[in-house]
Amino acid sequence: MKKFVSIHDVTNLDALVSQALKYKDDPLADKSLGVGKRLGLLFLNPSMRTRISTQVAAQNLGMETVVFNVGQEGWALEFGEGVVMNGTTVEHVKDAAPVLGLYFDILGIRTFPSLKNKEEDYSEQFIQQFIRFSNIPVISLESATLHPLQSLTDIITITESFREKRKPKVVLTWAPHVKALPQCVANSFAQWVNGWGKAEFVVTHPKGYELDEQFTQQAKITYSQADALKDADFVYVKNWSQYREYGQVSSQDPDWMLTENKLKLTNQAKVMHCLPVRRNVELSDEILDGTNSLVTRQAGNRVWAAQAVLSEILKSK
Ligand code: CP
Repeated sequence: MKKFVSIHDVTNLDALVSQALKYKDDPLADKSLGVGKRLGLLFLNPSMRTRISTQVAAQNLGMETVVFNVGQEGWALEFGEGVVMNGTTVEHVKDAAPVLGLYFDILGIRTFPSLKNKEEDYSEQFIQQFIRFSNIPVISLESATLHPLQSLTDIITITESFREKRKPKVVLTWAPHVKALPQCVANSFAQWVNGWGKAEFVVTHPKGYELDEQFTQQAKITYSQADALKDADFVYVKNWSQYREYGQVSSQDPDWMLTENKLKLTNQAKVMHCLPVRRNVELSDEILDGTNSLVTRQAGNRVWAAQAVLSEILKSK
């Protein structure tokens, strides 16, 4: 594996999931694999789980990590081609990325979308320029449109939680939120569940919240949350802002919040969320504190997803 920015960088998803679960059983199984190697983690935006789980994963493989909060501590980066840099940006990615490529063996980048310019965000120009100019493997720690480490974690979590010999019904439901959020987690979850191909997959949201079809593809899409929830085995809850009317919020309808009462429609579904979650806005206390919630286990699995990805990159270097 030379980079990890979407499911298209994975040649064998089942093997990657299996490796992650092996690391969960035996975290230090490859404790010498990364000795003498250094991982740089660059954050242009905030993070708790991604930052810490990736550091722990690297440590389990014997790697050193350096975390750099570019957004708070670094020079303001320029990504535009041919820009006259007489404004607020101080350093071009063309100059910064090759230097980072000399300091590190693998580079992780977190960079959110603007939610203002759809074409720019969906071209993934920030992470693509780090890939182009750093000359080392790049891992997405969440980009403008996707969150692959989260989605790999989600497939791992569904795999270990579902033991029946049939396809689980997996529902991605939109939830209300107080502000406009990226489509990344929803896009990415849809891309990975479709790519995995081992679930009956339904996406539900209010009118206007259709995701980019390149990610939803074979999913059944319905505006009726009640229809979607019927007999569900897993319900993934997430807010996102509109893709078509880009970045807009046309609904904060509290009726879309998942509750215990709505769970009665499901097959005692397990509830997932990537965290952080706004309690009693996106998800009720009763669900988050109840036995159907997988959110803590899911967040714990972030370590094994990151460790499997780092291991595959280290083995192919
Ligand atoms: N789920 C997730 O990516 O969490 P953080 O934003 O805290 O990294």
